[in-house]
Amino acid sequence: MPLVSVATQIRSAVHLSEIPAEYRHLPVVGRGTTSCVLQEDADHVLVFTKDAAKVVWLTHPLGLRVGKVVSEFRANTHRKVAVRDLPITVVRVPIFHKLPAAKQRQVREFLDQLYDDFYTQPAQWEKPGHPSLPSSVTQRIAAWQMAQTVRTKYHNWPWWKQFYKLFLFLSQNTEWELDLHTANIMQTSTGDLVVIDPVLSTTMHTFIYGAPSP
Ligand SMILES: Nc1ncnc2c1ncn2[C@@H]1O[C@H](COP(=O)(O)OP(=O)(O)O)[C@@H](O)[C@H]1O
Ligand SMILES: [Mg+2]
Repeated sequence: MPLVSVATQIRSAVHLSEIPAEYRHLPVVGRGTTSCVLQEDADHVLVFTKDAAKVVWLTHPLGLRVGKVVSEFRANTHRKVAVRDLPITVVRVPIFHKLPAAKQRQVREFLDQLYDDFYTQPAQWEKPGHPSLPSSVTQRIAAWQMAQTVRTKYHNWPWWKQFYKLFLFLSQNTEWELDLHTANIMQTSTGDLVVIDPVLSTTMHTFIYGAPSP
């Protein structure tokens, strides 16, 4: 399955009607496949999401570490049964900014190279006679190898560290599918890249594509 913007394939798993009344006055600053993002004040957004992997990435000490979980609830009103029962987690995150077009192009080229590396890197654990490993383990090893690739091959690229950190994080975690594309990368007010949404939980992936990735 090509790793394209899944946002083009289904509507958001968090419907506006699922947002509690006390938040409804806040402006919507973004919506994606798994989340609805409201602006809380001049410096913060509230991410309402059904994607457990995204919550871990935003809040974990080894992840982006910018988010704080504010609450969790079940709305149970979404018209799609598959996502109706999933809890919604609300995460407070600093507000980030869209990439200007030229930078977006630069980042897209980088991501294209990363994907080539990710899918063509030699799978060192697949030696003849080697016992097969569960996919969650091979995925973590692949992520660890990618972290090394990013560090050795791209250390002249200004934002390599953000991706090094991401792949190290992925090597410590199971239950993720990569969802790297430019709509999931923003910047701070000083122009630093922020990878806001690089993963999709396996649960959400299954919902969208109908089966787990190979
Ligand atoms: N911290 C943020 N500041 C400003 N806008 C944001 C922030 N986080 C997300 N957004 C906007 O909301 C959109 C959806 O958020 P995202 O985290 O990508 O959720 P999804 O998993 O649904 O794709 C993003 O493409 C972006 O436009
Ligand atoms: Mg997204």
